Amino acid sequence: MDAKLLDNVQLLYEKDSKGMLKALAELPHQCYLACWELPGRLELADSAPISNIVVTGLGGSAIGGDLLRVYCLDRCSVPVLVNRDYTLPAFVGPDTLLFAVSYSGNTEETLSAYQQARQKGARIVALTTGGRLAELANQDGVPWIKIPAGLQPRAATGFLFIPTLVVLEKLGFISGVEKEVQELVEHLKTLQRNLAPEVPQESNSAKQLALKLHGRIPVVWGASGTSEVVAQRWKGQINENAKAPAYWNILPELNHNELVGFQVPPEILRQLHIVILRDPDDHPRVQKRVDITREIIASAVGGVTEVSASGGGRLARTFSLIYSGDYTSVYLAFLYGLDPGPVEVIDYLKRALASDGGR
Ligand code: F6R
Repeated sequence: MDAKLLDNVQLLYEKDSKGMLKALAELPHQCYLACWELPGRLELADSAPISNIVVTGLGGSAIGGDLLRVYCLDRCSVPVLVNRDYTLPAFVGPDTLLFAVSYSGNTEETLSAYQQARQKGARIVALTTGGRLAELANQDGVPWIKIPAGLQPRAATGFLFIPTLVVLEKLGFISGVEKEVQELVEHLKTLQRNLAPEVPQESNSAKQLALKLHGRIPVVWGASGTSEVVAQRWKGQINENAKAPAYWNILPELNHNELVGFQVPPEILRQLHIVILRDPDDHPRVQKRVDITREIIASAVGGVTEVSASGGGRLARTFSLIYSGDYTSVYLAFLYGLDPGPVEVIDYLKRALASDGGR
């Protein structure tokens, strides 16, 4: 492999048929639009009090739900649950606010959960570019937020997540969203200047990390309540962009099981590269756990890299880690000689499932 492949900027853009690099460059603007443009005309009728919030979706359309769940942990008076299935939990009812999220609008699990939510009398807000979900929402008089089309769903996280914050603020569950998103947008612009393909390898941390992960199995660890969703996001992005296996877990939980599994088989353990996500808001005991855990596993694995969140507020810090993982995963795709955009296996699977008409 050409050691400077990632600095061949023109080649990277040529290999990137779905514009993943462009989408990453535009993430700050996406977050801006997601806050100030998309939810604009949404009509939220009065209803019975809401006692729980459910986000139903899959893959790239579900991760925003998890970001919302963690964001709300210490700010929202009602629980937020993410549903990645055809069926909804039994508690869903007229006191549920349900976000049905599907970038394409055609994901069968999400359509099924939407129909159930209707039957259960939940208060629904849909987020989609169109598809069957938009048709159903129009037909049922359900408010929906139109997401701009033309992206891969996983590249539309700003569009799929930030409007849910705006809705929760409109309903009085949280406050200060605009200020936080403004800070997020500015911080992403700064980070973009450090992570973009035009920034050479020697000063580009995402390119450097992609090189370390190349030929290894990435294992990404986050911390409960701060970077837990980001660890999951890194894993998904490595899977979908780089088409490579990756695994994730969170502290402190992994100290009680996964940590024990670093003894055998040595030749496989040496193939692992551990990425530890750190955030200043991590519980102080978790910070100590990270240090001790690192010491315990360091000599067994191929390598360990820590990635620290930057930025002031919670949103900026979370997205700083997401941005770095997104760029790393796209660069990793190029190192494997692959186009980061297409996810042919998912497309194939959806077609194969649809061949029976959805029965
Ligand atoms: C593809 C991707 C997938 C999809 C998932 C659900 O980029 O990220 O994980 O998000 O297959 O499809 P949608 O988002 O259209 O409901």
